Amino acid sequence: MKNVFITGTNRGLGLELVRQYLKNGRKVFATCRDIRVASELVSLQKESDGMLEILDLNLFSDDSINKLSEMLSDSPIDLFVNNAGMMGPRNLQLGGVNGGSWAEVFRVNTIAPLLIVQNLLENISSGKEKKMIFISSRVGSIEENSGGAMYAYRSSKTALNQVVKSLSIDLLDRGLTSVALHPGWVLTDMGGPNALIDVETSVAGMISVINGICNSDNGKFFNYDGSMIRW
Ligand SMILES: NC(=O)c1ccc[n+]([C@@H]2O[C@H](COP(=O)([O-])OP(=O)(O)OC[C@H]3O[C@@H](n4cnc5c(N)ncnc54)[C@H](OP(=O)(O)O)[C@@H]3O)[C@@H](O)[C@H]2O)c1
Repeated sequence: MKNVFITGTNRGLGLELVRQYLKNGRKVFATCRDIRVASELVSLQKESDGMLEILDLNLFSDDSINKLSEMLSDSPIDLFVNNAGMMGPRNLQLGGVNGGSWAEVFRVNTIAPLLIVQNLLENISSGKEKKMIFISSRVGSIEENSGGAMYAYRSSKTALNQVVKSLSIDLLDRGLTSVALHPGWVLTDMGGPNALIDVETSVAGMISVINGICNSDNGKFFNYDGSMIRW
């Protein structure tokens, strides 16, 4: 049996990733920062027959991130999915950008994923699949930026992509494959009511892409439908 480690699982895409991976027969390590607001996740755990383990993780806290490997002990992680992310204040146009909120978005979307990988490197290296998936966003693509604005969120995902690229080089000799993955524009709290696809469609697509990823995909940026996205 293979397992999967997923961050940000109390709602949105993370919760659906947990649901679908449990259905697929995986053991799931699911992180969330406040179990009191994770009723759907807790229900899944009750029905999971021990297949779902919930781990406390607040991405703003180095201490919280550094406790992960302790919580997992020597358990290998077969598949690593960094899903948690934040948008920050919406509709901030040039002239109204705020440094403090930008730093928070960077902390969650860019810095925390690397700190988590550092902390869990031995667990991920000893896993069966050796795949690291980072949920990024198409709006982080510099080549595809035709809309402007969204300074904090865009730049945080562009920088995350650069982190993924460096990991794909640094961890090649451990046999690890690092990939950035865009989930589509999805109906979640973040995606909003005008989004184009539901969480079931996005996650089914992403899981199919993840299943097909091989060593030669290391350092690439995929859409949930399997097509490639320009950096
Ligand atoms: N939805 C879209 O259209 C879309 C498009 C492109 C990319 N994405 C990316 O897909 C991923 C999931 O997005 P989503 O739409 O599911 O978003 P969402 O519904 O807003 O969920 C975000 C998740 O991240 C967690 N999170 C945020 N800040 C955290 C922190 N400091 N510590 C721990 N957990 C934290 C949230 O937990 P709390 O409930 O505790 O805040 C929540 O579980 C994100 O990386 C996002 O950037 C989404």
